[in-house]
Amino acid sequence: MSERQGANDGRATGLVVAVDGPSGSGKSSTARGVASRLGLAYLDTGAMYRAMTWALLQRGTDVSDADAVAREAESVVIVSGTDPLGPTIEADGTDVSEPIRGSDVTDHVSPVATVARVRELLVDLQRRTIADVLEAGRGIVVEGRDIGSVVAPDAPVKVYLVADAAARAARRAAETGAADTSATAESLARRDQIDSTRAASPLVRADGAVQVDGTHLTLEQVIDTVVALVDEVGDPA
Ligand code: DC
Repeated sequence: MSERQGANDGRATGLVVAVDGPSGSGKSSTARGVASRLGLAYLDTGAMYRAMTWALLQRGTDVSDADAVAREAESVVIVSGTDPLGPTIEADGTDVSEPIRGSDVTDHVSPVATVARVRELLVDLQRRTIADVLEAGRGIVVEGRDIGSVVAPDAPVKVYLVADAAARAARRAAETGAADTSATAESLARRDQIDSTRAASPLVRADGAVQVDGTHLTLEQVIDTVVALVDEVGDPA
């Protein structure tokens, strides 16, 4: 990775980079790579929906019951760290970085993320995290599904990252160590379907978002593409 001259000198103060896209499109690696290259903070909002799901399962909540989920979600405490080199996530005081990647959470997170009250609570938390970072004089890369459309519609840089279904399944299977790529492809397709057809903040390409197709690009090339978009807008502060 080529370190940019002055990348960590605060030149990106006030900058919000929104990275949205479907599961397995490479959002996390891209968002973390861009944040570390430019010296920005990083927020993984998918991890927040996963942490909420973990906490509800832990409490024995029936996650298929939207009313129960909405009620119980009020008292779940989620804390996200914003260092791209070591992102952290806690739910109800427990470090959940590992369990939120397990199949139990992955299988239940999409229905939890369709519950409007869950989205209100987490969007509010996401906006407060972004505001804190900006107030501290820094910029942030935020990844999710509704960042450019709902969470930070005024973000000066919005990216909609896509990759074809086979590439996404292969990438996710490699990450999770799954031997069966076709099962991973089915799981991704099921989550895409729920995430893009739900009533509350469905996955969409936001107004003003630049679509980047990573299917035939290396991670470094995708990061370069997003950094070039940041360079185009300059320092908004
Ligand atoms: O990016 P991910 O796979 O960790 O996201 C987990 C789930 O959370 C996914 O099913 C979609 C949902 N999600 C969402 O609804 N809105 C976001 N901003 C981020 C994730």
